[in-house]
Amino acid sequence: MRVITRIQFQEAPELQEIDWESELKTFQSIEYPQYYCQPFHSVLGGWLSEAAAVRNRTAMEAVLENAHPQKSLGVREEIAQLFPENARRILDFGAGIGDDGAAIARRLPNAKVTAWEASPFMIIVGRLLHKNLPNLDWQHGLVENTRLPDNSVDAINMTYVLHECPDEIKQVILQECLRILSPGGVIVVTDSLPGDLHSYRGFFEPYKEQWLKINPDQLLKEAGFIEIKAYQFAYPTWTRVGQKPNSI
Ligand SMILES: C[S@@+](CC[C@H](N)C(=O)[O-])C[C@H]1O[C@@H](n2cnc3c(N)ncnc32)[C@H](O)[C@@H]1O
Repeated sequence: MRVITRIQFQEAPELQEIDWESELKTFQSIEYPQYYCQPFHSVLGGWLSEAAAVRNRTAMEAVLENAHPQKSLGVREEIAQLFPENARRILDFGAGIGDDGAAIARRLPNAKVTAWEASPFMIIVGRLLHKNLPNLDWQHGLVENTRLPDNSVDAINMTYVLHECPDEIKQVILQECLRILSPGGVIVVTDSLPGDLHSYRGFFEPYKEQWLKINPDQLLKEAGFIEIKAYQFAYPTWTRVGQKPNSI
């Protein structure tokens, strides 16, 4: 019997050629918090695994299968439309393999988009998938402490990240967003509808009970954002766009 050990990637056959050992050596080590080191989505090793990274696109295509005629990639294009034309410095927080960051970079070629991601595995795959986008770069790190100056970015995107974090970390991340956004800067948050995580049978979602209590408007308002606008262009997601006040 012949056993096929590698997943075949029609669109990106080069993923099978990744030399993980040598790629991983190029990253600085991070002290990961306990909440991050769990087997999210029941993948052994959680975010810190080859499997999570090479399957991220497929997983998101499944989650967003009925959300858009072009599934997850169509949702990414819709999210990209929400960024102001004049934004020049944009971050995609918890970027995964960077499919949102790439859609934003394609839409706004004059902006510099940084995909900020804690998992080197995700970055390795994302860099390969989006290697032809000159205005998309990558930063390895936790989004709760970017060490960027205050008021230094125009817009931040965050898709399907907050539901993976405990409540106190959700607040820390939103406060970091508020700190580094320039006055009037924009935050775009997209995530799962509160009850929907319970339908992910077989997917380990450690904070799904906390997520049931989430009110997206309240979450952003209490963090200090104003002018919150609601979008639900893609069931079963919600999207909110908020602004940092001009004076805090
Ligand atoms: C469900 S995936 C979503 C990825 C991507 N935003 C997307 O829409 O496909 C969550 C991602 O957030 C990253 N992540 C979670 N917590 C993080 C943190 N504190 N700092 C940086 N990245 C984080 C994970 O490594 C993972 O790649």
